[in-house]
Amino acid sequence: MNWAILHSPACTAIWEVHEDEAPLWRYWGPRLPDGALPPCPLRAERPEPSFSLHHDVPLSLFPGIGMGWFGVPALAAHRAGADWTHAATACRVETVSADTLRFHLRDDVAGLAIAITARLDPATDTLTLATTLTNAGVTVLDVATLAAACLPLPPDAEEVLSYTGRHNSEFIAITDTLTRSGWRRENRRGLTSHDCFPGAIVTCADGTAYGAQIAWSGNHAQSIDWIDDGRRQWLLGETYAPGEIRLAPGESITTPEVLATVSAQGMDGVNQAFHRAIRARIVWPGGAMAPRKVHLNTWEGFYFDHDLASLKDLANAAAQVGIERFVLDDGWFAGRDDDTSSLGDWWPDPAKYPEGLAPLARHVIGLGMDFGLWVEPEMVNPDSDLYRAHPDWALHVDGRPLLAARNQLVLDMSLPQVRDYLFEAITALLGTLPIAYLKWDHNRDLTHAGNRASFRAQVLGTYTLMARLRAAFPAVEIESCAGGGGRIDAGVIAHTHRFWTSDCIDAISRVNIQRGFLRFMPPELMGSHVGACPAHSTGRMQSMAFRSGVALPGHFGVELDLRQLSKADRAELGQAITRYKTWRDRFHHGLVWQGEADDHVVWQAHGQPHDLLLHATRFAPTSWRHAPHLRLPMLDPTRRYRVTPEHGEGQEIAGSWLMRVGLALPPMPGEAVLIYTITAI
Ligand code: GLA
Repeated sequence: MNWAILHSPACTAIWEVHEDEAPLWRYWGPRLPDGALPPCPLRAERPEPSFSLHHDVPLSLFPGIGMGWFGVPALAAHRAGADWTHAATACRVETVSADTLRFHLRDDVAGLAIAITARLDPATDTLTLATTLTNAGVTVLDVATLAAACLPLPPDAEEVLSYTGRHNSEFIAITDTLTRSGWRRENRRGLTSHDCFPGAIVTCADGTAYGAQIAWSGNHAQSIDWIDDGRRQWLLGETYAPGEIRLAPGESITTPEVLATVSAQGMDGVNQAFHRAIRARIVWPGGAMAPRKVHLNTWEGFYFDHDLASLKDLANAAAQVGIERFVLDDGWFAGRDDDTSSLGDWWPDPAKYPEGLAPLARHVIGLGMDFGLWVEPEMVNPDSDLYRAHPDWALHVDGRPLLAARNQLVLDMSLPQVRDYLFEAITALLGTLPIAYLKWDHNRDLTHAGNRASFRAQVLGTYTLMARLRAAFPAVEIESCAGGGGRIDAGVIAHTHRFWTSDCIDAISRVNIQRGFLRFMPPELMGSHVGACPAHSTGRMQSMAFRSGVALPGHFGVELDLRQLSKADRAELGQAITRYKTWRDRFHHGLVWQGEADDHVVWQAHGQPHDLLLHATRFAPTSWRHAPHLRLPMLDPTRRYRVTPEHGEGQEIAGSWLMRVGLALPPMPGEAVLIYTITAI
């Protein structure tokens, strides 16, 4: 018996390793001191309970089935009904590097080889797990489920926070109490989805929080189940449709990665580790993130109604208020006058753009802005030249009707000829026009994914195409969009640089959408725009000050017809853009904390505990006679701080006072944002 141990500054993982079974989970939690190990093997401290197997099977990294584990198995697979019981018969631990272990398991009875890679990254405090299953037998192995990760949760785990939603209403928080019944969230929509974000955060009675998210843009599931020793097992991974994964002898499948972290600082600590881990996954043009440019997106201002002269006017107005990137949204390509046609025909509409996109792109660039373009590569309208030429390229099941959504079908991204067509079509644009940015959309769920289910191949095909385009055009940034926030995940971000958070730009709705987003993703990736008044998605009206204040901490943009703005609103928007440019470096680096100050006030702080930018939002009128205090738990009680409102005089306040009593907020209108700098003296 041996211990396998990984430490990072804030986390520790310990497994008990025997050479004839999967590694037993002994600890995953806040950092233990070096040498703090279990006093004895697990079985030595738990006598056999009454009426129980003589063979105790505790929670392992890869729980089996049919051999004494009565919890949820990590794998469900068989060979024409046989070889369905699974239990590792051999285990070897490979030290890949100081922070990475690989557990090599074999099940010589079922004919399986399993490799689980566990990396506890000291820079991010994130444990990254992924599993490779190889069919070591001589017949086909049918795989129904394969967990990417099986994590332990301590007995005092109380609640789990996860997110649901829909188009125009992303990141609706759900808090479930953990009981001895099981908890499960599953997404079957074929892409990441609006209604089941692929991650969750578990909070414990002692304030510790555990977080995990699946780096995958397809079907996925996670479950938390109570086990016999009072702990819980948290399984996360991709899900497969029937018959989707059939491994030939010698063939392997590798799951997506799961990013997992734990923090004694609670939910904020989990979010901060996730932010570091996500930042580490992004491949920026030039190797490092440049300041996030202010966008103008044409969608809500123009929809499909493109007209070169008006768009040039819009670009002029955009440059005047300080916009830095002009993104031409849907409506630019051949015959695309509404959402009934043309997806797949990725060349400029000859009526709207008789000389192609170059005149507009050159105009935009001449004004000092980047030019960006919207595409939706995985989609095809039946009414398109592409579909007429290649109806077989759309996902279909023989004998079944084609099920359209927004009048569109989905291309089979597993087909190399489809990917080649798209690569060439997009290359024809990127290679001939000065395009610095692509907004990559995906505006429908998948239903059936082919005669043989190929949900997984669909995601991998898209990743492959994105990677190929990135390799060919490394300077081009990509935004991940799917009817707003339907493809926000740690998988696609390895190929992209921004998420479109929601098609709902109503600033009140955005408050909670953005707060949910920030639980998993850093603010610089959060596309946050100032929309029109009234908001197109809800019809509600908000002031320019409030709309721009809510958008400020994210990757700021404007999505309205600037030409229609009143003089006063245009001036205010210009000031907001200047304000964003002043603050963006501080919003977009460092840590994020979120809290609530009661009486309809929520806040977030960005930076470091000794140097913070505080962003406080009142989202409804006060019901109190006196404004609430805003308590800042991350400060140092032994230090004093200079607290300076954006417009006004600073004052010096003791850290302990700000932590325990809080900052007195001034009266605020019913919808308002305030910003303070808080700096240790
Ligand atoms: C989706 C996106 C929008 C816009 C439209 C264009 O809904 O989320 O931002 O690009 O598609 O059709």
